[in-house]
Amino acid sequence: MELILKDIQKSFENKIVLKGASFTFEKGKIYGLLGRNGAGKTTLFNCISGELSKDSGEVILENGLGNEGELDYSNIGFVFADPVLPEFLTGYEFVKFYIDINKDKIIDIKTVEEYLNIIKISKADSHRLIKTYSHGMKNKLQMLCFLISRPPVILLDEPLSSFDVIVALEIKNLLKEIKSEHIIIFSTHILQLAMDLCDEIVVLNHGILEQVPSELIRSGKFEESIMEILKEDNYD
Ligand SMILES: Nc1ncnc2c1ncn2[C@@H]1O[C@H](COP(=O)(O)OP(=O)(O)O)[C@@H](O)[C@H]1O
Ligand SMILES: [Mg+2]
Repeated sequence: MELILKDIQKSFENKIVLKGASFTFEKGKIYGLLGRNGAGKTTLFNCISGELSKDSGEVILENGLGNEGELDYSNIGFVFADPVLPEFLTGYEFVKFYIDINKDKIIDIKTVEEYLNIIKISKADSHRLIKTYSHGMKNKLQMLCFLISRPPVILLDEPLSSFDVIVALEIKNLLKEIKSEHIIIFSTHILQLAMDLCDEIVVLNHGILEQVPSELIRSGKFEESIMEILKEDNYD
């Protein structure tokens, strides 16, 4: 399975954000999408998911069976930087609801308690309203949605930036466990996170995507060369 981006362009009024971003993402790898604040990471994710309409270009999900098609919402799990959840439900109620509306497509369905256990939300917390949850807990709950419905493509928009070290480690392990079945793209402006978690690193710079050679990621020169690539810019 591959997610193929072809020459994606997107501007806001007279500001060009994506200038022809092209890349092929493969199943089984965690990709780090690295770029400075304002580089266009969120915009790119929104163009992939269809949340925003792109000016031109194509987003194709090739499933290896010869059928390819433009990606649609049901193929994507999106974890937003600012989690979007119904705050008036408890965590438990939300997970129960989410299972209910997706039950036809869930493989190997578990109980609400079992799911909450995966993301280590305690019984007491699960019966509190989501609006009382910390940012990290909300993010974990959003991640649980894709652990339940298992969309082929999972986009994580700077999700770990707000996590404490323990939660970050839990999430890292979860992602590693499921990665063989998915295309996972994880945006961050934090170099260390990208180096820690990702198999491949793609830099979004000047509106285009460039892959960092994998031998460079594990070498001592990585940090230096990324800095070199990113520092020339003037983002607002
Ligand atoms: N809805 C919008 N209208 C106008 N400009 C936008 C909009 N969304 C993003 N931008 C601009 O596009 C650029 C890229 O933003 P964004 O994709 O959020 O970057 P990143 O996620 O990498 O920090 C920024 O200059 C931002 O101000
Ligand atoms: Mg962003």
